[in-house]
Amino acid sequence: MRPGPEEPVGAHAAVPAAEVLATLTDYITRPALEAVTALGIIDVVAPGPRTAEDIASATRANAAAVYRVLRYLASKGVFTQVGDRAFALTEVGELLRSDVPGSMRYIAIRNESRDRGDLAMRELRYTLETGLPAYEHVFGESLFAAIQRDPELRADWHAQMRAHGHRVAAAILPSFEWDEFATVVDVGGNTGVVLASLLKAHPSMRGILFDLPEVVEEAAPVLEAHGVAGRCEVVAGDFFAAVPDGGDLYVLSQILHDWDDARASTILANCVRAMKPGSRVAVIEQVVPPGDLPHPSKRIDLALMVNFGGQERSESEFRVLFAQSGVELSRVIPSAGSWSILEGMPLDAGSSILAASLA
Ligand SMILES: C[S@@+](CC[C@H](N)C(=O)[O-])C[C@H]1O[C@@H](n2cnc3c(N)ncnc32)[C@H](O)[C@@H]1O
Repeated sequence: MRPGPEEPVGAHAAVPAAEVLATLTDYITRPALEAVTALGIIDVVAPGPRTAEDIASATRANAAAVYRVLRYLASKGVFTQVGDRAFALTEVGELLRSDVPGSMRYIAIRNESRDRGDLAMRELRYTLETGLPAYEHVFGESLFAAIQRDPELRADWHAQMRAHGHRVAAAILPSFEWDEFATVVDVGGNTGVVLASLLKAHPSMRGILFDLPEVVEEAAPVLEAHGVAGRCEVVAGDFFAAVPDGGDLYVLSQILHDWDDARASTILANCVRAMKPGSRVAVIEQVVPPGDLPHPSKRIDLALMVNFGGQERSESEFRVLFAQSGVELSRVIPSAGSWSILEGMPLDAGSSILAASLA
């Protein structure tokens, strides 16, 4: 099924999204995807099938080359050949359209954020030898420091994060009882796409968006576009120092995986400190499956290691990290995508509930 322009792509294509990411790392397929995205071929074909000659004249490209690149990408499931020389987008190709929420265009096309990631990844050997993030070795500062300092890099990163937020929201919204919690604090919520989507879907909920100052200052248009600005407080700060008090649910979406255990534990423990009785934490992360099973988490884990010194974790690693931070892991709920929701409660709360049930 083809998503309409207003529908989040991730809702239809959680698995294809992971497949596109996989092919974006292949050295012929990735430049081919980049070229057809950057040149506008994806968007030209989006409304319906077009011949290679039509596409070439709409994008000022060479028809013979367009035909050959699209024939190749049709063999990779991005286009489908519908006539002698005509092509349409597949569900996977839809992910690269510029006009869909959750678009993967910003991962496909060259930009400062992606180019730096590529350069760091070329130095994987440094990380392999030292265990340290190659990003800092190559650029002399951490990725988050660079994002804070460099507005161009920040703009690319935020465009990527907003699209990512749409995919996360589409995957997790149906998977959890969000409206059992009156106030949700999105810790490291970026410019607010995930939180705004939650609040839009659950009109009884209120939100607190928490991130670094230069990040949350870009949140207003996102909250307004979702019609939730009146129900969402925006708070700037540093989650290594403290997070806002008073939430019923603390959401940490793709936060812990950016950090090593010591720093991830500080963030979680700061959430525990801010919680009131009955509050919960919902950690949204990929959980690495055991054994040789292929899973997107195993590939992203290397990018996290090289760029941030972070890591994807298995369920047992999460259980240990939670316990070290004063949190009992109560449920691991799979979502529609490759993410899970790991629900936790402060360890004291867990033991008093257990004590009450044993009494
Ligand atoms: C990988 S992004 C996740 C964004 C969002 N939660 C999502 O799932 O799309 C990590 C977020 O952590 C934020 N962050 C990094 N360091 C932080 C800090 N010290 N205090 C607060 N937020 C921070 C970044 O600005 C970024 O928005």
